Amino acid sequence: MRSVREPVVEVLLDSDWAASGLVQDVRRGLGAVPRSLPPKWLYDDRGSALFDEITRLPEYYPTERERTILRDHAADIARTSGATTIVELGSGTSDKTRTLLDAFTATGQLRTFVPVDVSEATLREATAQISTRYPGVQVEALVGDFTLHLGHLPRGGRRMVAFLGGTIGNLYVEERAAFLGALADSLEPGDSLLLGTDLVKSADRLIAAYDDSHGVTAEFVANSLRVVNRELGADFNLGAFSYVPFWDPHEERMDLRLRAEMPQHVSIPGASLEIDLAAGEEIRIEISSKFRPEGIRSELAAVGFRVVETWTDDADDYALTLAIREHLPHQR
Ligand code: AVJ
Repeated sequence: MRSVREPVVEVLLDSDWAASGLVQDVRRGLGAVPRSLPPKWLYDDRGSALFDEITRLPEYYPTERERTILRDHAADIARTSGATTIVELGSGTSDKTRTLLDAFTATGQLRTFVPVDVSEATLREATAQISTRYPGVQVEALVGDFTLHLGHLPRGGRRMVAFLGGTIGNLYVEERAAFLGALADSLEPGDSLLLGTDLVKSADRLIAAYDDSHGVTAEFVANSLRVVNRELGADFNLGAFSYVPFWDPHEERMDLRLRAEMPQHVSIPGASLEIDLAAGEEIRIEISSKFRPEGIRSELAAVGFRVVETWTDDADDYALTLAIREHLPHQR
């Protein structure tokens, strides 16, 4: 029998990562016009619970679609990737990943699982559960930000990096290129990427998915200002904002904003910032880009990944793409 060490949790974020990052993002995003705030600040405890609720809404199809594709094709993914290590970026509770872990342990190929997440508490809990359930698998968790810490992925074996949930849709096209390029650079030829992406579809269905009838998504998006109020002592009057989600057909992305319905002066002492919002002024909180298979292929090819297989659900709502890091040198 192969011997497996105790699970390891490596912490790459210093204790004020969140605090100093939020201040910077607030200064940069809310201090400039047009105003914006990056979506990573949506996920405090309340925001994470609201997002969880979103994934169970009948209108929000991506979670269920991805789960179905994973269930139907996990064995294909194991075989085609040949990976002995699974790295999961933004792993959270690694809920959906268990389908992958099951398939990769059924063939006997899986040696190491590397969940990467910013939440240390969530990661420690997931690590304990996974090492109990898969005793032959070495868990090496990284508490880190996957936009910063790709250089710390454990080396050796054949690695498959899973980036699921459609989270890549939160990045602007130039951010995607930078992220995918850094990821390609951190991998060896033969390693692979399993990427989950929501696909372009009718505006009606997209808007329904981001403007649900129970108002959960509106609450989730408004929670961003609640976080700034609490963490930085700001005085955003949440009742004076309305939720404005729309489909941008040119950029092919959902654009989720909050609109100040009346002029508002806001103090943000924790960021030493005072802002005046005009009536009707909007703050962009999140984009959720939608993809086409040709676009995914060319964005990946540009950084040295070759698509080997794309799996979609029956309705072609969502795609899982497996791409191999190529030997060929690439230019950026
Ligand atoms: C977690 C980024 C994939 O874009 O669909 C859901 C977040 N925002 N409803 C998405 C989200 C509003 C979600 N991602």
